Amino acid sequence: MKFSDSFLDEIRARLPVSQVVSRRVPLKRAGREWKGLSPFNKEKTPSFTVNDQKGFYHCFSSGKHGDVFTFLMETEGLSFPEAVERLAGDAGLDLPKPDPQFERTAKEWLGLYDALEAAAHGFEEGLLARDGREALDYAERRGLTRETLKEFRIGFAPNAKDALKTGLLKQGFTEAQLLEAGLLVKPDDGRPTYDRFRNRLTIPILDAKSRIIAFGARTLEADAEPKYLNSPETKLFDKGSTVFNLARARKAAFEKSELVVVEGYMDVIALYQAGFTHAVATLGTAFTERQMELLWQLADEPIVCFDGDRAGEAAAARAIDRMLPNLREGRSFRFAFLPQGSDPDDLVRSKGASAFAEYLASARPLIDVLWQRELKAHAIDTPERRAAFEERLEQLLAEIGNARVKDHYRREVKNRLFTLWREKGTQRGKLPANLGARPAGRSGPPPISSPYGFTTVLTLALVNHPWLLDRFAEELSSLEIRDKKLAALLQSVIRIIFDDTSVTRERLVERLGADSHGKLFAALWRDSAFKRVAFLQPESPEAEVEQQFADLIYRFRALPSLTRELQEGADQLADVTEAEFERFAVLQQQVASVGSEHAADDAGDRDATKRFQETVARLKGENVGAQKGRRSEKQG
Ligand code: UTP
Ligand code: MN
Repeated sequence: MKFSDSFLDEIRARLPVSQVVSRRVPLKRAGREWKGLSPFNKEKTPSFTVNDQKGFYHCFSSGKHGDVFTFLMETEGLSFPEAVERLAGDAGLDLPKPDPQFERTAKEWLGLYDALEAAAHGFEEGLLARDGREALDYAERRGLTRETLKEFRIGFAPNAKDALKTGLLKQGFTEAQLLEAGLLVKPDDGRPTYDRFRNRLTIPILDAKSRIIAFGARTLEADAEPKYLNSPETKLFDKGSTVFNLARARKAAFEKSELVVVEGYMDVIALYQAGFTHAVATLGTAFTERQMELLWQLADEPIVCFDGDRAGEAAAARAIDRMLPNLREGRSFRFAFLPQGSDPDDLVRSKGASAFAEYLASARPLIDVLWQRELKAHAIDTPERRAAFEERLEQLLAEIGNARVKDHYRREVKNRLFTLWREKGTQRGKLPANLGARPAGRSGPPPISSPYGFTTVLTLALVNHPWLLDRFAEELSSLEIRDKKLAALLQSVIRIIFDDTSVTRERLVERLGADSHGKLFAALWRDSAFKRVAFLQPESPEAEVEQQFADLIYRFRALPSLTRELQEGADQLADVTEAEFERFAVLQQQVASVGSEHAADDAGDRDATKRFQETVARLKGENVGAQKGRRSEKQG
């Protein structure tokens, strides 16, 4: 394929080498050049340089030298035309009209598409044929309807050595084509080629234009290996840049502004049948950069589902490491952790679509999962360990490629550390591990607009989810609640659950109704403000409830000391250093987020509440400006 020099130059002009290279190799500025670790050799000190002005890279360890095109050819195994096509797309240029050579290649490719299409057709017929009976039974046992089988073009490859091969040769395809399409296996010892897929349920994998490019095939035998046999990489199938069900999910994802990412074929298919038509799968690979880009074309923050067990947690941890370098403005992922040992397919089949929807709704932002992961992995009970924890976080954030996103992560982590260290310093008992984070889903803490605030929400949460007492007894017992009536009501609830740990929500409501606080309880129970707080609802997923409850207690406990500090800070505001000033800004932010709710609990002390609110307002407004003014005066 011949491209004109001016076209190639136009691509070079639009794409700095560092931009193309940095997707694969993290680069650091070094004067006019960029430096990084060689992608060609394993090394510890960088010997790979990129010069954007001159438009080349040079690798001192391997001697390799080239431009954006050769870089893709060397590192991704693309042919030159493929590299040009990819980069032209990145640069926003249309490919020039193909020349005859290109057309010949295109024809060969078309032959491959045709072969795969013909194979899919044959497999579909196979599923409905007599010897497909067992496969069809299997599909039905898994709950797949005929419509679903048809929609996904699921088929059956018979248990025969070369049934497909014979059929397709008869249709005029050549053996070379079938081999290139990945449909045949060629033994090394020169024996004849044979069908790759035998006695398996076949699932076509489509590209972005809905053309079949490969198959995934599930064994029908309980313990045959591998469970899923996939097409090999071919001219058409590049596993790392393929996302299963991308084309079919596109429209629904746009419409819902949401995309669900799961692990397996069957998860996608079961979800589709349950009405989640906006699900795709990464097919057991680690998240590649190409896949992330494809997912981001469909939604800004795809929700990635993981099993709620250790393996799922580990998979999420690995995914995060791959995501960090690629995050950019507005582009991230959210994480949904499903119940122990169940994948989306299991979940919708056993608990229904609404159960899965709830897990989606409780998806957490990347920063939360990352924070939790690090907090879990590191002890922070001594100054040295806390310092190591901070250092580790810094290293992690350095992985973020996008400068602006990195900056915001740094700020957020700084904030969280600040709160965490304070909590460490003031706590009496020990916090459970999950109290260190601000878990809250994408919408942040539950909106609490009722005048009764924290205490009421805690009480109602306990009534709806009595099991919470078992997990938070210690934290609950150390809360200082100033409103006497609410404190007494909460105590009643705790006593009832304590007496009968298997008490149901209904029974609790009944007992409280007869209690001396019956009236107060009835009023709160009916208050519509609380009906909108998702985690108070009895059907809310346990993990979500636990997180939100922990978050509430955590914020509640942090408040009094915050208020105190803020008050003290106000008196000393005339004379602060840069660092103190910054710390002050963090405080204000925290008080603003907890203040309004907590203040309402101070019904017995309206003056204090008013003073508190005035202080916050004052600090937020004129004092910041005045402070800055004063500081510059002092310097002048
Ligand atoms: P799982 O082993 O979790 O299987 O693999 P699953 O999706 O739950 O499959 P069922 O429900 O038992 O049928 C998850 C994904 O990893 C890839 C497949 O894409 C699979 O859907 N995989 C797994 C393979 O490619 N090969 C394998 O041998 C196993
Ligand atoms: Mn499964």
